[in-house]
Amino acid sequence: MKLTGFDSQDSHNDQKKEVITMYNPNCQNCNFKKNTSNGNCTRYKPTDGFSIRCSPPWTIEKYKPINLYCHMLTSKLEKKRKLNYIDLFAGPGQYCDRSSGMIYDGPPLFVLRYDVDHLYLNDINPDNVKALSVRIKKNMGRVTIYNKDVDLVAREINERLSDDSISFCFIDPDDIENFKYDTIKQLSKDREVDLLINFTYGLDYRWSVHSNQNKYNEYFGTDKWRFIEDKYKANDIIFRAHALMKLYIEQLNKIGYLKPPAGREYKNIFPIHNTRQGTLYYLIFASKRREGYEFCKKMRAYTIPWRKLQIDI
Ligand SMILES: C[S@@+](CC[C@H](N)C(=O)[O-])C[C@H]1O[C@@H](n2cnc3c(N)ncnc32)[C@H](O)[C@@H]1O
Repeated sequence: MKLTGFDSQDSHNDQKKEVITMYNPNCQNCNFKKNTSNGNCTRYKPTDGFSIRCSPPWTIEKYKPINLYCHMLTSKLEKKRKLNYIDLFAGPGQYCDRSSGMIYDGPPLFVLRYDVDHLYLNDINPDNVKALSVRIKKNMGRVTIYNKDVDLVAREINERLSDDSISFCFIDPDDIENFKYDTIKQLSKDREVDLLINFTYGLDYRWSVHSNQNKYNEYFGTDKWRFIEDKYKANDIIFRAHALMKLYIEQLNKIGYLKPPAGREYKNIFPIHNTRQGTLYYLIFASKRREGYEFCKKMRAYTIPWRKLQIDI
């Protein structure tokens, strides 16, 4: 079954075009663990010949808040302010949904369709950076692509952001060992950088204290997570995840990120679910501007509902 023809060149020739999709027969009965390398498909490449990421069906849910936020920022922003999009873990820019075989654009490519002044994209994997460069070619004037470790790129991007700019940064690491609290500090120093963070820690007990504890100190920017780990056992998994998220948000408050308005605490958290409606991880939104949370409130209507954190600490 072929849904539409696919020519990846189209996607950068015409930014207004709908996302281009195609059925990828290689996905049928694919053992994706065996047939991926660094998250990219090893069996199939689109017609441009560059890497695509093998994605689970819930990836689309993860991209919804990015689309909604970019839409609101670009339609409401005062014209005199410059708007930047930053993606610290950008991937190759195109994705293959492993259940349907659909090929679709990821954030770096769909954000280009909005009236964003500049995009700063980074990925440590040279194959992803090559793929991004080819797919973004026509728009290179408003894109800077880095091929660096995230720790090394944050300060550099911060120095490129003008005083009057507003930036929106998507932080989507594979796991917490790839990311440090200090990186957010460097990136957002003296700048208004709204954040959407894939909080991958908390629901999975494989990533618990038994691994490298220094990594967790660096991720949270504190060692207070240990008290939470000590308190909650595996059967308290939701309490543990929520308590850890609360701690993470408090850490963001320390570096200038506002608390959401009273009565809307934690409504800046977007849970991402698998196909059986089990929560997999959370996206945390944070802003130094009140308006950021106003946008966030409007976004909720279009995402999976969320009541309140279950915390008893
Ligand atoms: C979970 S994927 C996210 C890709 C993309 N944001 C998406 O929506 O699918 C993580 C990406 O981060 C890259 N990466 C892993 N460690 C990194 C690091 N230390 N610095 C920069 N990029 C890194 C990987 O190559 C991979 O493309």
